[in-house]
Amino acid sequence: MKKVVIATKNNGKVREMKNAFEALPIELVSLADISENIVEPVEDGETFKDNSLLKAKYYQKCTGMACLADDSGLEVEALAGAPGVYSARYSGEAATDESNNAKLQDELKKRGLTSSKAGYQCALTFVDVDGSILQTQGYCHGEIRNKAKGNGGFGYDPYFYVGESSMAELTMEEKNRISHRGEALRKMAGLLKEYLK
Ligand code: IMP
Repeated sequence: MKKVVIATKNNGKVREMKNAFEALPIELVSLADISENIVEPVEDGETFKDNSLLKAKYYQKCTGMACLADDSGLEVEALAGAPGVYSARYSGEAATDESNNAKLQDELKKRGLTSSKAGYQCALTFVDVDGSILQTQGYCHGEIRNKAKGNGGFGYDPYFYVGESSMAELTMEEKNRISHRGEALRKMAGLLKEYLK
């Protein structure tokens, strides 16, 4: 069975990916399962797609295994697409979900806004040992508001609304059904199924 390393130490993402690729003839391992400590690459791509490709190529080379990497983030219309590829470190190098949300709310307030159309994006890249590349993307339309609701999810979810519910109010299954990552994962599962035939 083909071994594929998932380029993340985030257990939530590992669980989601294992779940999405359950029926495929591949064995998924995460970076946390690998004993050697690999230095993280600098994510200096201009797009989510670039960053996921850069990570997948880097970890494929470091581990010698096929690799699957993702990159995702939030784009807010009133902020000209920010925080975009800087979503994880929007409020600085030592950013937390709390400080990133505080900065986001500050930026909207400065513009006299209480909400804005927004979207989550996710890009996934698979790089095989022979250099073959598969890429997919997913998108989730919503709205950033100035009131937090719910305790689930992570990142910007308490302020990201789809209809009248925030993303943090949804169960994991509900979120996966409509999320950017869910869409990109389903598309990748389809491509991998064909590719591995
Ligand atoms: P990365 O893809 O792990 O680099 O994450 C990028 C950042 O985008 C995260 O740290 C979050 O701030 C944000 N983000 C990505 N996906 C989601 C999501 O599903 N909910 C909330 N925030 C997200």
